[in-house]
Amino acid sequence: MNETIDLMLSHSSVRRFTEEAISEEHLQAIISAGRAASTWKNFQSYSIIVVRSNEKKEALHALTPQPAILQADTILLFVGDHYRASKAAELHQSDFDAKGPENLLISSVDAALAGQNSLLAAESLGYGGVFIGMIRHVACEVAALFKLPDYTYPIFCIALGKPNQHFPVKPRLPHDAIVFQEEYKEQGLETVLAYDQIQSDYAGARQKETWSERLVAQFGQAEQESTKTLLKEKHLL
Ligand SMILES: Cc1cc2nc3c(=O)[nH]c(=O)nc-3n(C[C@H](O)[C@H](O)[C@H](O)COP(=O)(O)O)c2cc1C
Repeated sequence: MNETIDLMLSHSSVRRFTEEAISEEHLQAIISAGRAASTWKNFQSYSIIVVRSNEKKEALHALTPQPAILQADTILLFVGDHYRASKAAELHQSDFDAKGPENLLISSVDAALAGQNSLLAAESLGYGGVFIGMIRHVACEVAALFKLPDYTYPIFCIALGKPNQHFPVKPRLPHDAIVFQEEYKEQGLETVLAYDQIQSDYAGARQKETWSERLVAQFGQAEQESTKTLLKEKHLL
């Protein structure tokens, strides 16, 4: 249809990289594209920590042992950030209360939009990458590693580099299972069963568990504690 949409439709996460570096010019373009995303009331309630040193990559990998972290040329760590808002409150000698789900949604949505823009920009320049949200399982340790102040929390990082693997595009849910006309349409088990089959066909021998089993592994138990502990420590919950 056009180059932009073709690029979006060809997205596939990349978790293995060659040793080729991302040029400084390209990295700046990727970050600028990220920062151009829409943002709630222009608050820009996130920060991006650029990680290129082996020392920091190794320390992050020790906390979240995903090979993409070590292999990536650059890691962009996206931090939900109401710290600058606390400075605005100081400036105006105002009360400050950034606690609660609405404020978390403001910073998380802002960061997600900037992150997705960044990854797309990287893909348009011939790089690849993957979001890594599992860092939230060690949120307190990640916050300490990157010296995050009050009112901030790690949301995800993106590992970026020159792809050393190419997977076909992963099929999404069927259109009618996720796009409704005019009102919500509840569905039965058949939607889940049908997509389990689509995912199994796609993954083949690589599949360890079905899509619905992965959902149950996530939602069949109380959520992990680390994010909640950190959010309380940073006065956000
Ligand atoms: C917020 C977020 C966190 C993610 N965290 C991880 C992660 O920790 N490790 C990983 O390998 N992939 C992670 N992913 C990548 C997803 O698994 C991937 O996007 C999804 O399976 C769809 O595949 P695709 O991106 O290749 O289309 C994450 C994606 C998002 C949006």
